[in-house]
Amino acid sequence: MARVLTGIQSSGKPHLGNILGAIQPAIELSKNPAHDSFFFIADLHTLTTLKEGPKRQENTYAVAAAWLAFGFDTKQNTFYKQSDLPQVCELAWILNCFTPYPMLANAHSFKDKSNKLSDVNAGLFTYPVLMAADILLYDADIIPVGKDQIQHLEIARDIAQTFNNTYGETFVLPQVKLEQSVMTVPGIDGQKMSKSYQNYIDIFVEEKELLKRVKSIVTDTIPLEAPKQPDTCTVFKLYSLVAEPNQVADMRQKYEAGGYGYGHAKQALFEVLWTKYSEERERYTYFMQNKTEIDRELKSGAEKAWAVGSKVLNRVREKVGY
Ligand code: ADP
Ligand code: TRP
Repeated sequence: MARVLTGIQSSGKPHLGNILGAIQPAIELSKNPAHDSFFFIADLHTLTTLKEGPKRQENTYAVAAAWLAFGFDTKQNTFYKQSDLPQVCELAWILNCFTPYPMLANAHSFKDKSNKLSDVNAGLFTYPVLMAADILLYDADIIPVGKDQIQHLEIARDIAQTFNNTYGETFVLPQVKLEQSVMTVPGIDGQKMSKSYQNYIDIFVEEKELLKRVKSIVTDTIPLEAPKQPDTCTVFKLYSLVAEPNQVADMRQKYEAGGYGYGHAKQALFEVLWTKYSEERERYTYFMQNKTEIDRELKSGAEKAWAVGSKVLNRVREKVGY
């Protein structure tokens, strides 16, 4: 059985990009009977940037509700929140002592912010070490992530290798699984959809709000009668990620023929988003109104994770002489 492990930070409410780019592909991977999946909410990592406690708590529920709404099978797998397992902090400390300074100084997550060092906290600097602990604590084999996380995986492998070289086989070396099937989902401004750019589409909101959001997608000013270029249009790009192939082909034809406005395309995109995710929206809303059920899920997941993590941590403690 191969162990698949991945985490999503609870730094905001999950948007369409997170769902198409991370949650759905991971859930698909977890359906393989040869896989035992550990999916968790990286709520410790969020403290590097997000300081408001109530916000973190609400976002953690929102991320959990999204995994549950999209049907992650928590009976067959392990679903937990990072902060419920303090073992990960102990392991992160130990791993810190096997992590060369230049390796962290070269990490993009730090380098991107290093023009203003007074804004960089030590948590942000050692972020990749906590991520390595997330992975190594559970003997994970396969880590599905987006491109931006590849360097972090290399760091995790490096640290594990260094430790193994010092003390003998202790950690499983994790393999990255790059999620290539989904392109980068664009936001309403055409840039990569992201919480940090405020350009995201939240599929869990009410009808009117969703329609308003879809209507605010930026398009060019080509008049309704004129033919249009589908491949450079954000509305079409989003539609092609969520609609059926025959619907996409149909919309392409309409763009190229002319007499079809962006308003029509936006209405079609809204309708697909509204109907396609109706069940998930209902389940998401249910969980957000019944948070004790989320608590129950996360508690039982934490117990399963605890059993695995404690064993690995004991293995490590023995090696280093604690
Ligand atoms: P954000 O950019 O909104 O802060 P995160 O960095 O927390 O999102 O990403 C969580 C997961 O969702 C990652 O696996 C990431 O690759 C995926 N993801 C985020 N935005 C997109 C997007 N626009 N298209 C595809 N995948 C995305
Ligand atoms: N750093 C990841 C991100 O921002 C989230 C994450 C934390 C993670 N720990 C992990 C992903 C362990 C995979 C494995 O997307």
